[in-house]
Amino acid sequence: MSSHTNPTTWINPLRDPQDKRLPRIAGPSGLVIFGVTGDLARKKLLPAIYDLANRGLLPPGFALVGYGRRDWSKEDFENYVREAVEAGARTEFRGNVWERLAEGMEFVKGNFDDDSAFDNLADTLKRLDETRGTAGNWAFYLSIPPDSFAAVCHQLERSGMAASTDESWRRVIIEKPFGNDLKTAHELNETVNAVFPEESVFRIDHYLGKETVQNILALRFANQLFEPLWNSNYVDHVQITMAEDIGLGGRAGYYDGIGAARDVIQNHLIQLLALVAMEEPISFTPTQLQAEKIKVLRATKPSLPIAENSARGQYSAGWQGSEYVKGLREEDGFDPESTTETYAACTLEITSRRWAGVPFYLRTGKRLGRRVTEIAVVFKDAPHQPFDPGMTAALGNNAIVIRVQPDEGVLIRFGSKVPGSAMEVRDVNMDFSYSESFTEESPEAYERLILDALLDESSLFPTNEEVELSWKILDPILEIWEENGQPEEYPAGTWGPKSADEMLARNGHQWRRP
Ligand code: BG6
Repeated sequence: MSSHTNPTTWINPLRDPQDKRLPRIAGPSGLVIFGVTGDLARKKLLPAIYDLANRGLLPPGFALVGYGRRDWSKEDFENYVREAVEAGARTEFRGNVWERLAEGMEFVKGNFDDDSAFDNLADTLKRLDETRGTAGNWAFYLSIPPDSFAAVCHQLERSGMAASTDESWRRVIIEKPFGNDLKTAHELNETVNAVFPEESVFRIDHYLGKETVQNILALRFANQLFEPLWNSNYVDHVQITMAEDIGLGGRAGYYDGIGAARDVIQNHLIQLLALVAMEEPISFTPTQLQAEKIKVLRATKPSLPIAENSARGQYSAGWQGSEYVKGLREEDGFDPESTTETYAACTLEITSRRWAGVPFYLRTGKRLGRRVTEIAVVFKDAPHQPFDPGMTAALGNNAIVIRVQPDEGVLIRFGSKVPGSAMEVRDVNMDFSYSESFTEESPEAYERLILDALLDESSLFPTNEEVELSWKILDPILEIWEENGQPEEYPAGTWGPKSADEMLARNGHQWRRP
């Protein structure tokens, strides 16, 4: 019997494709963006929305509403979005796709505490439900500083826009920073959860939207090859690196006083650690996946003593390639006495049978040698070498390196005989590269995450508990740093402060030079 003739097995092919290769298309819905004139919206969100429309993944009547203080007409807003799309979209610009998307755009002017502007927004959504067929399904994207979350959530509740009904849904999508420490994160979660139940809250960690990050799950759990080795019997240590070559010019308002650990370790790097270290989930439903991440995060803590197992640095002027660049304290808008770290590293340990005794080294920095994010799982030495020591002098530890970006792929490093009459063993690389193996281009992280939020797919969104557990791991490190004053300087274009090298050297390890 075909699935269409049996109502109990009937499947909506759009929402629940039997053939998982069919694209997942969002149902009737619209998106309201708060902070639409900000950098993130202009550079990432608006281009991603266009790319989704261009790929045919948004419903035909999709509506996009901007909310902000500018005195903009619908046409002004359309022009602004079009500029952002032309500058940032991944896919080609197509007039007919643009026209259809632009028809569903509206701009509502107002502050975050303005009752009448929010009432106006509510009327706009109702009107769009009728004219565009958005069916009362709305996601509110808060691309605004967290100190405005409370005001916006309150207004959405007051004006009746926050509540889902049996027929229609309301969701909120929020951007980091989720607080400044455990206490403020908890307060923020309470503020948001007082208005939106947890299942309607989608916290963005854009690293989870990256193909290569999702591939950690495929690599580990779809294969037989890796998982038997993925434990303290074979793994010596793990290095998670997120290096950037850019500086912080233009970002003082957000970054000064926040620093590298809060900016990316608390979220992106700890999420990477969770995916690398967690047990196999029973399934990939949000609850099961999140349950495994939560379990491993609960078992993760900083190695002691923290002062020796962490490092912080701040870039000073130096040569970044062929360009001589300023130090942080000379960058526009930064306090000349700023103690904000632009480099952060720490050693974490996981108290579980699988990982006991395996250090997880995390590092991130601005103005480093080059831009690269990678996870290196470094293996122990073979228990015995039947070769003379001289023959294996050039053999390092075996390693599996997941290259998150750029040159996305996976590299396996192992020893191989050097051709010739002598037995000499040297490291070689076996390299899988996305660009050589696949013809499909990877979508941008924000495309994936916005679509998932519209589809109510929450697997790739950290829960309130994950966020709070991450702060719990980081807080003791931040407290020690607070007491220690000024971070160590490192010249721009280098690989960070000496204390970060010493942190590994104490364990007989060294950072990979990616
Ligand atoms: C953001 C941080 O979350 O990630 C930035 O706030 C950082 O400081 C950015 O530059 C890096 O993202 P990506 O996707 O370019 O690695």
